[in-house]
Amino acid sequence: MHASLIEIEKGFAEDLEQVRTKTDLEAFEETYFGRKNGRLGGLMKELASLSGEEKKEMGQKINTLKVDLLSRLEIKKQTLLGALLEAELARETIDVTEPRLPPVPAGRLHPLTTLQTDVEDFFSRLGFRILSGPELESDYYNFTSVNVPPNHPARDMQDTFYIDGHPDWVMRTHTSSVQVRAMRQYGAPLQMISVGRVFRNEATDVRHEHTFYQLEGLMVGKDISFANLKAILLALAKHLYGEKTDVRLRPKFYPFVEPGVNGEVTCYLCKGKGCRLCKNTGWLEIFGAGMVHPNVLKEGGVDASTHTGFAFGFGFNRVAMLRYGIEDVRLFQSGDLRFLTQF
Ligand code: DAH
Repeated sequence: MHASLIEIEKGFAEDLEQVRTKTDLEAFEETYFGRKNGRLGGLMKELASLSGEEKKEMGQKINTLKVDLLSRLEIKKQTLLGALLEAELARETIDVTEPRLPPVPAGRLHPLTTLQTDVEDFFSRLGFRILSGPELESDYYNFTSVNVPPNHPARDMQDTFYIDGHPDWVMRTHTSSVQVRAMRQYGAPLQMISVGRVFRNEATDVRHEHTFYQLEGLMVGKDISFANLKAILLALAKHLYGEKTDVRLRPKFYPFVEPGVNGEVTCYLCKGKGCRLCKNTGWLEIFGAGMVHPNVLKEGGVDASTHTGFAFGFGFNRVAMLRYGIEDVRLFQSGDLRFLTQF
């Protein structure tokens, strides 16, 4: 039995020399220390045939050997794994001569976004809140709350998209839907604007889109007058189109205001002389406005006997078209880089 101890140690040293890979290592461990047929385990079994002192002595020897072999195995493991890792790292070189990927083109802001930021800045400085409202809106906020009850003929002019199974929801047709939401949330006095996306079920052409943007404005308080409305609109027109720009207001019906007006600005192309763009009128129509209808104030929870207000709504794409000389409203949503990279 003593002889087999020496043999095992010799075999161990020789076999360990041959271990080169992780698989070799696993097989080697199994051969010597495996639970079932490991050589050291075999020695232990042989002990059973010995007796007394001899058994004790051999048992100690086997244990000492085992401890020694295990520590040698551990050293081998460390050096082998270290070497394997180094080899792997050596293979992972960086080729500095490899051509780099083409640069990702930098994005830019959409012209409507630029204009929105500009207009929001303008109104912030006048103390207006910048608000927003949902695009998928209730029939109530979009129509009824702004004095367009069910079956009102004004609904005909703003056909929109509906959601199957939800007869009370609409894709909002205008940003006027934010008016009553804002009054309910903030009460009076209130001054706010809201720029956002609106929807109409329309055939599209150079001037019509099913999806476009509006700018809504609302000011409610004591002693708010039509003169205040005109002053704000004139200041905005000058900000957008230059100091020489004037504003013309003419009566027009909108259900949510009384009186209501149709608003025009001096044609920026001919400066009011008359040209193809303004169809020889010298004016360009870009908004609707008026004094808030008492029914709308009431819906907003504002006392219409003590408070008044004005409201206005701009076709925001049209504001941008006139400012940047864009001729087809459909370009805004085209995603066409030839268009977008011009701004
Ligand atoms: N909501 C109107 C539209 O979409 C525009 C408008 C007109 C808004 C008059 C107003 C207003 O706030 O007072 O055609």
